[in-house]
Amino acid sequence: MLETTTTSRTGTRIDIRNVSKHYAGATAVEDVDLTIEPGEFLTLLGPSGSGKTTTLNLIAGFTDLSSGHIEIDGERVDNIPSHRRGLGVVFQHYALFPHMNVEDNIAFPLRQRKTPKAEQKRQVAEVLETVGLGGYGQRFPSELSGGQQQRVAFARAMVFEPRALLMDEPLGALDKNLREKLQLEIKRIHQEVGRTFVFVTHDQEEALVLSDRIAIFNNGRVEQVGPSDELYEQPRTLFVATFMGESTVLRGDPQWQGKEWTLGFHGASVRGVAEPFAGPAALVLRPEDIQLAHREEEIPAGRQYCPVTVKQNIYLGSGRKFELELADGTVGIVRGSLAQGAGLEVGDPAFAFWHPERGSLLPDTGTQSAT
Ligand SMILES: Nc1ncnc2c1ncn2[C@@H]1O[C@H](COP(=O)(O)OP(=O)(O)OP(=O)(O)O)[C@@H](O)[C@H]1O
Ligand SMILES: [Mg+2]
Repeated sequence: MLETTTTSRTGTRIDIRNVSKHYAGATAVEDVDLTIEPGEFLTLLGPSGSGKTTTLNLIAGFTDLSSGHIEIDGERVDNIPSHRRGLGVVFQHYALFPHMNVEDNIAFPLRQRKTPKAEQKRQVAEVLETVGLGGYGQRFPSELSGGQQQRVAFARAMVFEPRALLMDEPLGALDKNLREKLQLEIKRIHQEVGRTFVFVTHDQEEALVLSDRIAIFNNGRVEQVGPSDELYEQPRTLFVATFMGESTVLRGDPQWQGKEWTLGFHGASVRGVAEPFAGPAALVLRPEDIQLAHREEEIPAGRQYCPVTVKQNIYLGSGRKFELELADGTVGIVRGSLAQGAGLEVGDPAFAFWHPERGSLLPDTGTQSAT
């Protein structure tokens, strides 16, 4: 049964090696190369149609791959049918058997494996406790709320001690409050059982709450994989930068001198240091990187800045959020303390400034957030 007393990382390693999946006339997944470490919580995050479900189905064995291969604990699984891969799977729609009570639903995988009756009973009782449904064993799915049904689905996916748990938007059908509650429960269960979890979502905040690492999908490819702070602070592509959180994007054609760049930008010239690349660029600034000044002479020495017009000044209780318009119509977003930009009204001219070490200069691929 699940070891609920230890946090040791006993999970399984999954290697996805150069995997592609093509359908007639459509590419679902293109050259995905990803290692999921033992005991890790890895989330596949990306917009609709980016290849997340297909990747999960390839791991589970529900879909055949077109090229590449997948290893589970070092063993190639290309010819191993899905029910032999030892993986637990939870989908968005709980898919419980309506004519079976909760206990029988959860015991289903144990019956398939011909586990002795007494052992089945013990394991079902234990996993019901883990998902917080002790005492619900005799109920039928129709007598449970959506969140409770999804807990039963988790229990059924976990009861046979799967090598890894795969989940495809398991909270997608639930309302926001319940979703947030279950996110914390999934995180707790992951910490308790110490197994490998692969989780699919298109919800960036959900990915941040749950994951050890996040793989960002776009157009069937993994654009970047890493812990959330790395994706947020060191995005490698404009897509990753704009998908992971709010940002202000200043576009232009940089002049390079070695690693130093200069970007002429509507009444300002901004500069910084980056690995050089050819073509147009986008400077991505996070809302907390930018500060506001009423007048140019108030800007501290050594800061980069540009003129803006205040479009919104939003009181958030713990701080303020500003929406700005830059000379070319670009929208800027600033978040800071209540003192930040005090007295700035909608329509006021102002200056946005930031430290030259903040922000990421990236090739401008023309991509904005696809959400
Ligand atoms: N059976 C299929 N036949 C043809 N095309 C498919 C098939 N399954 C998926 N696709 C295509 O592959 C691409 C990736 O689909 P996938 O379901 O993996 O996306 P997703 O990231 O899970 O999206 P969502 O967030 O909407 O669930 C999509 O363009 C989809 O239309
Ligand atoms: Mg999907």
